[in-house]
Amino acid sequence: MKLTSAVLLGLATLSCGAAAAAAPSPLLVIHGGAGVERKDFSAEEERAARAALTEALRKGHEALMAGKPALDAVTAAITVLEDDPTFNAGRGAVFTHDGKNELDSSLMDGATLRAGAVAGVHTVKNPILLARAVMEHSPHVMMVGEGAEMFAAEQKIEQVDPSYFRTEKRWQQLQRALKEEVAGQPHADLETAKHFGTVGAVALDREGRLAAGTSTGGMTNKRYGRVGDSPIIGAGTYANAQCAVSGTGWGEYYIRLAVAHEICARCSTCRRPRRRPGRKSSSSACRSSVEMVAPSCCPQMGRRRLRSIPKACIAAGSEWMACRMSPSLRTKSLRCPANDRYAAAVRNIFIECEDFC
Ligand code: GLY
Repeated sequence: MKLTSAVLLGLATLSCGAAAAAAPSPLLVIHGGAGVERKDFSAEEERAARAALTEALRKGHEALMAGKPALDAVTAAITVLEDDPTFNAGRGAVFTHDGKNELDSSLMDGATLRAGAVAGVHTVKNPILLARAVMEHSPHVMMVGEGAEMFAAEQKIEQVDPSYFRTEKRWQQLQRALKEEVAGQPHADLETAKHFGTVGAVALDREGRLAAGTSTGGMTNKRYGRVGDSPIIGAGTYANAQCAVSGTGWGEYYIRLAVAHEICARCSTCRRPRRRPGRKSSSSACRSSVEMVAPSCCPQMGRRRLRSIPKACIAAGSEWMACRMSPSLRTKSLRCPANDRYAAAVRNIFIECEDFC
């Protein structure tokens, strides 16, 4: 059993390829969101974050060791992180422009391709549990807003007063963001730039089934009704028989590139062990799956013919992500829009995968 936490770093948490092994060793990977760094925490906050991450791993681990499906491990781990005010999910979610907490979540069962998602809910204590109920007890994949909350009531999913989600730290982040916006300097203050912090988990169970789940409050100062990548199957969450992904970062970019599905599609096409010149192990090849997302949209980039990046690709917003993900492709002729904070998150990509991709 491998337990790994991407702690506060991950861009995308991914597990791929393990389903082909004869008797897979259960695997659980969690993340507590990109854009949150250790130096941002006081010693006490770091202790609290570590305790919550450890508890999330413990709960997920218990499920896997009891022979339960990967889906149970993902749900258990994410529920713990939603309950902890440290993370931008459930209690502790960031605030919208108009001072509300609007929560998004999804999960996917790689073995059956069943999926459930909810977006824009205000009263559901654990949105991941509602996403699971959508998957298991409705014919639908996604429910939003009031309808999702009516469904929560029907399903007896715990609902709370919206004030439950409020934390002073997140409220102050919103106040700073609003002031900066009025001054025309969005995110001038590093504190308010901490609008990430989504949580997620991917798991592999003893039967070789993979699952992925993600939960978030979105981004500080997001406009009412904005939905990010986390509840969108294929963007922030995806799982199939070979691959499971939970993303964290700036959702609009994940949506434009359908990042989670794209990574899985790439994983599924490299099912044999292979080595690349200069790479030490086959798992290194798998690690580059995320980088491969970029050339998939811009094939010319893969061949380093940077001047011929297709216009459609740039329009899709992928140029920015592509060059951040593939720094070796950067030249004077391809300038990445500046966003060093996001670049830092990308550098901290955390991927765990088995050895045959
Ligand atoms: N990745 C979370 C969001 O953008 O909402």
